[in-house]
Amino acid sequence: MSWNTDDVNRTLEAGAPALYAALSPLGRRLFYPPDIPAQAQEAKGRSFNGTIGIFTDGAGGAVPLPSMAAALTLDGDDRNRAFLYSPVPGIREVRERWRGWQRRGVAASVPSTLPVVTAGLTHGLSMVADLFGGEGRTVAVPAPFWGNYRQTFALRTGAAVSTAPAYRDGHFHPGAVAEALSAAPEGEPAVAMVNFPSNPGGYAPTRGERDELRRTLLEVADRRPLVVVCDDAYAGLVYDPEVPRESMFWELAGAHERLVPVKVDGATKEFSFFGGRVGFLTFGVDLGEEAAAALENKLSSLVRSTLGSPVALGQTILLQALRSGKAEAEIREVFEIAERRYRAVRPALDDLDRDLLRPLPFNAGFFVLLEIPEKLGLDPQRVRRHLLDHHDTGIVAIAPRYLRIATCSVAADALPELVRRVERGVRELAGLTR
Ligand SMILES: Cc1ncc(COP(=O)(O)O)c(C=O)c1O
Repeated sequence: MSWNTDDVNRTLEAGAPALYAALSPLGRRLFYPPDIPAQAQEAKGRSFNGTIGIFTDGAGGAVPLPSMAAALTLDGDDRNRAFLYSPVPGIREVRERWRGWQRRGVAASVPSTLPVVTAGLTHGLSMVADLFGGEGRTVAVPAPFWGNYRQTFALRTGAAVSTAPAYRDGHFHPGAVAEALSAAPEGEPAVAMVNFPSNPGGYAPTRGERDELRRTLLEVADRRPLVVVCDDAYAGLVYDPEVPRESMFWELAGAHERLVPVKVDGATKEFSFFGGRVGFLTFGVDLGEEAAAALENKLSSLVRSTLGSPVALGQTILLQALRSGKAEAEIREVFEIAERRYRAVRPALDDLDRDLLRPLPFNAGFFVLLEIPEKLGLDPQRVRRHLLDHHDTGIVAIAPRYLRIATCSVAADALPELVRRVERGVRELAGLTR
């Protein structure tokens, strides 16, 4: 179909009014013109294809340097895929298989789009920020939060991050998003971040907490178009059997006409493929064919104007796992390492002196978050430096008074000692002796 910007906008507005209403000025402008990649895509398989600027063997195959080709055991089509450009929205088979992976156990009636490939999750988040952020847009983020949300939404697009406490009286606070949006003018579109298992918290909500969060999000959507970004970086890393593992995305998809769930996920943590840079962007709305094409046109425009095209090598390697039928079992083995570390750190935290450090609730993911009691008046950056300089220990400081331990990257038997060192460091700086 030959489209222009107005056609794309009109089609999207008709098929997904809330999504369209929440678009930023950039989001409205986005349009993927039928230029080189689109024309090359259409010419694929023709006997004479002189469209795109790639070096081929004359029959569409890649011509890799032998020393690089030797690094991969792939051959045939997969080797070509790895060395040539990926289609702009991603390799079709990867997108379809990832959709199948995402939808394990999800009822057929729950809507979700064919995922678009991103260069890791950060890129997916920055695409969401480009689509829905911008000056004057409120982005609700329960605090403490992963600092890169500020870079992607506020620093790059000028959106205003509005926070509310993620924990209250030592418990998860399901009303945080609604609270963070309480001052935003009625009717104005907004964005909300939902990240479970969380970074830096290492927390996934219980069934009751999730129900309450869902209720409050639907209530917000009664008053404004609401884009809910489910950052599922740590999907599946839940250690308590009573706590749901599935993404909140599936409980929000199709649940309210003014709520637009967006799933940001990918291979980085879920497939232990940090360097592969493969992420996905999926929308939980029933778009119909035309509006889905309009949305994909806008997403392609964003990818084309920033990355050019997503990483083919990462996608091709991920494809091997998605096709293998073994991904679930292999991931379980990797996650068991994370779980052993989680189980090793728990008793060490139980022994912590609560006058020095208070662990926030944690039951999932890669991290433990410790709060320094306010009355100690200690800057977490000062604690971090002290641990580096005097205790041979590195952790992350998060303002105004948190310390984050990445349990995922420390051997289980080293974790109790690490926790003891953190406690000792805080005790020294607080001038308390035992
Ligand atoms: C919550 C969260 N979202 C997104 C990301 C980014 O993932 P990626 O490395 O794929 O960009 C991270 C990485 O630490 C994260 O913790």
